Amino acid sequence: MIDADPEPSAAGATTGLRIDSDRLVSRLMALGEIGAIDGTTGCARLALTDEDRAGRDLVVTWMRDLGLEISIDGIGNVIATMPGFDGVAPVMTGSHIDTVGTGGRYDGNLGVLGGLEVIETVIAARERGELELTRPLAVGFFSDEEGARFPPDMLGSLVYVGGMAVEDALLIEDANGAVFGTELERIGYAGPAPLPGPAPHAFVELHIEQGPVLEDEDVTIGVVEGVQGISWTELTLNGESCHAGTTPMRLRHDPGYVAARISAQVRELTSEFGEPQVGTVGAITLVPNLVNVVPSIATLTVDLRNTDEDTLQRAETKFRGFVATTAEAEGVGVETRMLARFEPVEFDEQVIDIVERSAGALGMSSRRMPSGAGHDAQMFARVCPTAMIFTKSVNGISHNVTEYTEPEDLEAGTNVLLQTMLILAETEFG
Ligand code: GLV
Ligand code: MN
Ligand code: MN
Repeated sequence: MIDADPEPSAAGATTGLRIDSDRLVSRLMALGEIGAIDGTTGCARLALTDEDRAGRDLVVTWMRDLGLEISIDGIGNVIATMPGFDGVAPVMTGSHIDTVGTGGRYDGNLGVLGGLEVIETVIAARERGELELTRPLAVGFFSDEEGARFPPDMLGSLVYVGGMAVEDALLIEDANGAVFGTELERIGYAGPAPLPGPAPHAFVELHIEQGPVLEDEDVTIGVVEGVQGISWTELTLNGESCHAGTTPMRLRHDPGYVAARISAQVRELTSEFGEPQVGTVGAITLVPNLVNVVPSIATLTVDLRNTDEDTLQRAETKFRGFVATTAEAEGVGVETRMLARFEPVEFDEQVIDIVERSAGALGMSSRRMPSGAGHDAQMFARVCPTAMIFTKSVNGISHNVTEYTEPEDLEAGTNVLLQTMLILAETEFG
């Protein structure tokens, strides 16, 4: 492994090379204008919408302007690679540019545009003769990372690494019955590159923390050791619609009541299990959703996460138990659909160490930490040495239009990404 001490070499921690923070921020703001939510600095670019297409077109233009080789695969992942390395596996970075419906400008976008910024910086340094590279750098954006429209989350990177057949992924429907494959064709991003995609030499993703820890501890860089396990379930509760005034309580089969009880039970489960168990009911819909009608159907989603697989499985068992008991007590039927299930992921110790030493070499404070959110990097960890870099999120807020990261933190994280990628290019993995 390369030592990140100040010896002159191609390894970036030694070159004094730095990214252009203004260029990075101006690209982030330009991309953030697409799908901008009026009166806020937030963004709505749900996967495969017209806004997603416009965001993709802009980023692809920037990739082309840098002379990168662009590949688009059958699930709509876009990967841009430095040319001239003749089939040598790249050091890859990247993330996503789709957002949740009430997202910000940084979640995912930083990882993509930070990667582009690193590559632009490296191309310029090579042109000046300051840097030699033995492998290309590549940056990608992966379809439908959020999974907010087409579950599961991280769908594009999951298919890239062979975790789901592309044929199956293309059949996934959104809540309105729109089909992934049809929408992908519609926006013009069903490409010819083969799936599963070729494994990179290594993968590293830059992302905002989306939580409060770095800010709270005044630490600049999060060195991400792994990602917690994720379990998403959709419940459809079928009851009996009737008059809200005339039907005695003892005769009701009210799925709205059951949904409310399950929400409370999810919260109670997290108290009983303690940290790091988290649980969220993020979506509830009632049919017909009227003030004086006992609903006939309630649909709700449950998101359970834990860093420990055994504990997550115990939480799932407990959850299934109270769903059955609560529904039965009210005489309500239950249909269950698993939307996403990913085990906790541990990143590669060598890559983690390189991220940590890159931050140190740049004089930045860092701490090791797990990721509470899902990320494309957790899929790449299946096929190549992988880790992640976190930067601060102001007030720990994300998946919210007020999401914000200070320019100096964007710059710090992207400089760590630069150093890490250059060192990874020279690192052989055993
Ligand atoms: C993806 O952003 C997730 O963690 O839900
Ligand atoms: Mn993200
Ligand atoms: Mn997100």
